[in-house]
Amino acid sequence: MPNALDPDAPLGVFDSGLGGLTVARAMLVTLPAERIVYLGDTARVPYGTRSAQTVIRYARTCSRVLIDRGVKALVIACNTVSAVALELLRAELDLPIVGVVQPGARAAVAAAEAMAALNGAHERLPKIGVLGTLGTINSGAYPRAVAQLSTRLEVVAEPAPLLVPLVEEGWLEGQVPELAVERYVTPLIRAGAGVIVLGCTHYPLLRNVIERVAARVAGRDVPVVDSAEATAREVLELQQSGRLPPAVHATPADRRLELLVTDLPNSFSSAAERFLGADAPEASQIDLKVI
Ligand code: DGL
Repeated sequence: MPNALDPDAPLGVFDSGLGGLTVARAMLVTLPAERIVYLGDTARVPYGTRSAQTVIRYARTCSRVLIDRGVKALVIACNTVSAVALELLRAELDLPIVGVVQPGARAAVAAAEAMAALNGAHERLPKIGVLGTLGTINSGAYPRAVAQLSTRLEVVAEPAPLLVPLVEEGWLEGQVPELAVERYVTPLIRAGAGVIVLGCTHYPLLRNVIERVAARVAGRDVPVVDSAEATAREVLELQQSGRLPPAVHATPADRRLELLVTDLPNSFSSAAERFLGADAPEASQIDLKVI
């Protein structure tokens, strides 16, 4: 049952795998009193290459698992789900739901405007380059979200399907990620991207490679932004505007995050630890029942 009225209920966060931990980490910092239950649907990753109908079905089961655990709000830490299922889940479920596409678009627009202000009025506005999964790029969710924020900024987009398996495998540095990133970033830069938004929550784990390759291809630094902090801030704004009750009782730091996975690849716990620091809890495997 939705637990929207219990301020001490946890926030539910889900993604297809590890990527959403980038959002959970930002939430732990921005919302220091809140508990988080994180679900990584590692049995069914990747989502980004699947049809919208399948992603919607997966998103419904993940939401149901978290709601059954009594969460007071849902954070969809997955661009693919946010792009194709956010409005539907909001219509179907009776609790506040935050996605990552709007916050990502907001971060990208802010970066492009800051860059334009720095360059002066004589320079053309930088285009926003979106890297995302096939599902996110095909949905057109980013150009739509950017158009709602600015009518002056153009968006160019490139699907980057190999990056999710690389992150899930923990291949974050070296020749293979470098070549894959170059293959995806080069067309964006050639199309005039001056800012790159990481339109998949897995990609911040490859941020160093993406920044390095983009700078090499463009011959100058290219700002790279992601949605994690902006998403955490959106949850905070929900609380500040009275639409989500903030936690009343503080939880000890080592019990603030619970990790659930639907399959236990060896890499999940070690990657979570590398990513969240030594305090990362062990992940527990759960059965989604409906696959
Ligand atoms: N991290 C997710 C996203 O932001 C999903 C990636 C995938 O499973 O393909 O799109």
